[in-house]
Amino acid sequence: MTYNTKEIMEMDHNYGAHNYHPLEVVISSAEGIWVTDPEGKKYIDMLSAYSAVNHGHRHPKIIKALKDQADVLTLTSRAFFNDKWPVFAKTLADFTGKEMVLPMNTGAEAVETAIKTMRKWGYTVKGVEKNKAEIIVFDENFHGRTTTIVSFSNDPVARDHYGPFTPGFKSVPYSDLKAVENAINENTVGILVEPIQGEAGVVIPEEGFLKGLSELCKKHNVLLAADEIQTGFGRTGKKFCYEYDEIEPDIIIMGKALGGGVFPVSAVAANKDVLGVFEPGSHGSTFGGNPLGCAVAIAAIEVLTEEELVKKSYEVGKYFVEQLVAMKSDKIDIIRGKGLLIGVVLKKEAGKARKYTTELKNRGILCKETHDWIIRFAPPLTITKSEVDYSMNIIREVLV
Ligand SMILES: Cc1ncc(COP(=O)(O)O)c(C=O)c1O
Repeated sequence: MTYNTKEIMEMDHNYGAHNYHPLEVVISSAEGIWVTDPEGKKYIDMLSAYSAVNHGHRHPKIIKALKDQADVLTLTSRAFFNDKWPVFAKTLADFTGKEMVLPMNTGAEAVETAIKTMRKWGYTVKGVEKNKAEIIVFDENFHGRTTTIVSFSNDPVARDHYGPFTPGFKSVPYSDLKAVENAINENTVGILVEPIQGEAGVVIPEEGFLKGLSELCKKHNVLLAADEIQTGFGRTGKKFCYEYDEIEPDIIIMGKALGGGVFPVSAVAANKDVLGVFEPGSHGSTFGGNPLGCAVAIAAIEVLTEEELVKKSYEVGKYFVEQLVAMKSDKIDIIRGKGLLIGVVLKKEAGKARKYTTELKNRGILCKETHDWIIRFAPPLTITKSEVDYSMNIIREVLV
């Protein structure tokens, strides 16, 4: 039984909880940067499932890894060893330059893992008094949707009616090193930071912010956790966005593109003096480290290197931004971006972003507004300059 666009949207509305407000397009198949609706209309995907589809849709090597693994072993739990998880752990440890990896499934679970790691390290290594640990986070952060994570969000839509909230977090303005230093005390165990605030609207901190954070962490014996769930795996033109500041965070939080656009895989990587705090039973996940996800993630990491997607993201992203600037649109206030994570902030008088994302959709470009005034362009990293040229003709029709 197949359904048309109208029927699918009605079914979604009638049976699905209304916790999303999707653009009015149904995707029923996809390949590379292209997606197709049930009626056969094609669109360029400029959202990449919020940066989870960095490799392009259904990358052949990643799909092959998924299918091959599905034919032999899919799930064991960690009650037993399986022959894929340790290989994935080694691959990701080598890729990140860290000694240890802890696998989960979704991004929010990886963030929760980082929070637990920092707290446990605080109590067992730093010697913080029981239940006093504090973690510094940043205003306008987005780290996921669990009750603990929304406890330190300041977005009312994400947070309202979910209290009582988890204590132990202090939020300070993004990019403000002085505020961070003032917030640090003897109970501070960690700082949790997005190298670019993606959901806040591709907000790039002032130059040297991460370097400053790293120095503060060393000075005060505090762990630095970089949430690279959206910015990692080439999205910003580096393997990880923190590399722009030439720092080594203590904890790297990964998700989204780690699953190659086909399977939820997330992880935390750190050295043994940090991730070594866990003992059997103190943390876990039934599906974390499952062979299917591990096989996919290994392939995803290999494709990133083999196809030089990081370099491509840097070069094509730069080109993309240059073309946007050259449009000289009087509807645009600011264009900001690194690699292929690009935010276009509209002037208030231009009207809300939804009007433009709908118009772009009608003309064959799928992207999504963040908040009311910002359009995010984040195509798969496999997009070519000539495909950017093609897209730019459409973007120009809508934004100029
Ligand atoms: C920076 C960041 N952290 C965490 C998350 C949460 O990931 P997930 O939706 O897989 O739980 C997201 C998702 O958008 C994100 O952008």
